[in-house]
Amino acid sequence: LVLCFMVILFKYFVLVFNGDTQCMHALLKCQGSSSDGHDASVVEKTYYNKMLYVQYNSTWGNVTGSTKMARKAADILNTYYYLRGIRETLELCKTWITRAYSILAQKVEPKVRLRLTKAPADSEHPATLVCSVYNFYPKEILVTWLKNGERVTSEVTSTDSLPNGNWLYQRHSYLKYTSTHWDKISCVVEHPSLEKPRIYDWEPTPESVKNKFILGTMGLIVGLVSFAAGLIYDRRNVPGK
Ligand SMILES: *[C@@H]1O[C@H](CO)[C@@H](O)[C@H](O)[C@H]1NC(C)=O
Ligand SMILES: *[C@@H]1O[C@H](CO)[C@@H](O)[C@H](O)[C@H]1NC(C)=O
Repeated sequence: LVLCFMVILFKYFVLVFNGDTQCMHALLKCQGSSSDGHDASVVEKTYYNKMLYVQYNSTWGNVTGSTKMARKAADILNTYYYLRGIRETLELCKTWITRAYSILAQKVEPKVRLRLTKAPADSEHPATLVCSVYNFYPKEILVTWLKNGERVTSEVTSTDSLPNGNWLYQRHSYLKYTSTHWDKISCVVEHPSLEKPRIYDWEPTPESVKNKFILGTMGLIVGLVSFAAGLIYDRRNVPGK
């Protein structure tokens, strides 16, 4: 037992094996729910052969023993040295909590991708616009749609904020694409990491614009060739030549 007291007094985390199965271990818990650590508390529980022997709870500010023997031990522990040591631990606990919060409470800006997905040919709606918001933190986010500056409420579905598994989230919002070519459609993302809402305008994909351009150019060439051929043919058929 003397050894046990030594161990607690010098605050070593230990497993003491004494011949057969005599074993002592201690658990230190530091907890708090405010980012500046002002409500931090420390609880140190010391077990002897898996039975709670003595514990210190910073809310009480003293050591309590759970058996008659342990209470005697607690009396010894409730002296200046142990209490001073554990108060230092409480200060450390506040520092740990402040640091942990400063890491955990970082805000991470989302990455946004807007794209058009083609629906099956037999579907009622030709396509869906997808606004995919990736890698943001915290979870709370607002993803909405604007059509010619007006908020769209119908024809919109959305997933929840889905955890990536790396503390970041993603969310996808779907808008049935029934608009004409001239409608201006935008996806609006509001998130604590952003000072003001970010607006992403939908522009027809460069691919389809390119295709239209190629088709138009080809049409122009075909037209010109036909016109030239027509002219030549016409010249050849001038009567009297
Ligand atoms: C410490 O004591 C307080 C007040 O009695 C109690 O609310 C808290 O649960 C205790 N902590 C632990 C870890 O037992
Ligand atoms: C520890 O503190 C509590 C609350 O202040 C008190 O009720 C209890 O008697 C104290 N125990 C010891 C062993 O001093």
